[in-house]
Amino acid sequence: MFTLRPERPDDGPAIEALLDTAFGPGRFAKTAYRLREGVAPVDGLSFVAEEDGALIGSIRYWPVSIGGRPALMLGPIAVLSSQRGRGIAVGLMQTTLEAAAKAGHRAVVLVGDEPYYARVGFSRVPMGRMTMPGPVDYRRLLWRELGPGGLEALQGLIGKAA
Ligand SMILES: CC(C)(COP(=O)(O)OP(=O)(O)OC[C@H]1O[C@@H](n2cnc3c(N)ncnc32)[C@H](O)[C@@H]1OP(=O)(O)O)[C@@H](O)C(=O)NCCC(=O)NCCS
Repeated sequence: MFTLRPERPDDGPAIEALLDTAFGPGRFAKTAYRLREGVAPVDGLSFVAEEDGALIGSIRYWPVSIGGRPALMLGPIAVLSSQRGRGIAVGLMQTTLEAAAKAGHRAVVLVGDEPYYARVGFSRVPMGRMTMPGPVDYRRLLWRELGPGGLEALQGLIGKAA
């Protein structure tokens, strides 16, 4: 059975290798990476999945600013291809979304497939409500509140955390 635990500094190389195989070298060209460049992931929300000493899944969050208000951006999330369909990604998201809510974060956005992320409470951001600092398919821009009213005032340009 796999276990989930917070990421440690020595997990770095295994996570980079996992992301390279999951997303390919083009991953750094994505608009989401512009928001990550030079910014550290959110402390306490980077988790990994491990089994028999091997790292088989990873999730990280970045801090962003949406119209001047703080929010989280979920991702990247990846699971080793041979280990998919076991609930690892959903487990990583449930664990970390709970931790994020406990830590006082109010809202999370991500760019991904709505039918998949709906499993953990995400839905489409209404068209025109937010803009990304580069090309993105806005039908894939999703959000989820972490507490009542967390999305209410959230609108505008998604930028790097202030
Ligand atoms: C997306 C990813 C993280 C899911 O990891 P996982 O551990 O296999 O996910 P889970 O086991 O928790 O959930 C799997 C279920 O989600 C479904 N699913 C996976 N990707 C999906 C998608 N894009 N759209 C709809 N359903 C999807 C699977 O069919 C499976 O369904 P089932 O439970 O009915 O069998 C993994 O496939 C991956 O690493 N992909 C490559 C990287 C990637 O695309 N990351 C997300 C970028 S936004």
